Amino acid sequence: MNRIALVLGSGLGPLADAVAVEEAVGFADVELPGSSVPGHAGRFLIGTLGSAPVIVMQGRVHLYEGHDAAAVTAGVRWMAAQGADRLILTNAAGTLNPAFEPGSWMVLSDHLNLTGTSPLHGPEFIDMSTAYDPEWRAVFRAAASETGTVLHEGVYAGLRGPQYETPAEIRMLRTIGADAVGMSTVLETIQGRALGMKVAAFSCLTNWAAGITPAALDHQEVLATGKSAADTMVRLLRRVISL
Ligand code: 6GU
Repeated sequence: MNRIALVLGSGLGPLADAVAVEEAVGFADVELPGSSVPGHAGRFLIGTLGSAPVIVMQGRVHLYEGHDAAAVTAGVRWMAAQGADRLILTNAAGTLNPAFEPGSWMVLSDHLNLTGTSPLHGPEFIDMSTAYDPEWRAVFRAAASETGTVLHEGVYAGLRGPQYETPAEIRMLRTIGADAVGMSTVLETIQGRALGMKVAAFSCLTNWAAGITPAALDHQEVLATGKSAADTMVRLLRRVISL
């Protein structure tokens, strides 16, 4: 059976704990760029989640660390080369939709690539009209409603960072149709689609974006909501990808 590639966003460690690991491969072992922070070099965990063969990527690299679009998407290409034909991306994001509360999840219906770059070169005019697989999304929505899980659906704006947005930038993003904002995912989706992978992506909404609420954010509260949100995603993924 073909594997599912799963990219873990920050705070999704508990999901890796749910994987029966057969092999761990460091990014450096396969000549992939890793994080420059010692002890945080990324790795792939190859194994199973329930009955599903998976490759889990821990420690994605970001544009804001100084990597280029090719480096940011190298892990997706490597997992595809290992036989992964489906890609599940997760991230932590700010919410700018007043109806999408921090602590809840959003499945991406679409994205705005505002990074100014692309992993593709030359005449790769790939279709992005259904970048996030509509049928797969429906399966996740059904699993969420069956388990009483709140799962919003909306548009993710991917920016370079590392600075967070100003209130004026957040007003602009709302105007152009974004529901959530973060610094990852969009380039990996483009790369996955170019390789013919089926893609689904999820944002853990950890905080309000700038200017959405007057209240300052409580970091402890964010950490606590992040932890229970990770458990929620583990349940959802188990239910959907172990089918
Ligand atoms: Cl508010 N903005 C961005 N760009 N990334 C985030 C975020 C906000 N909150 C979590 N990640």
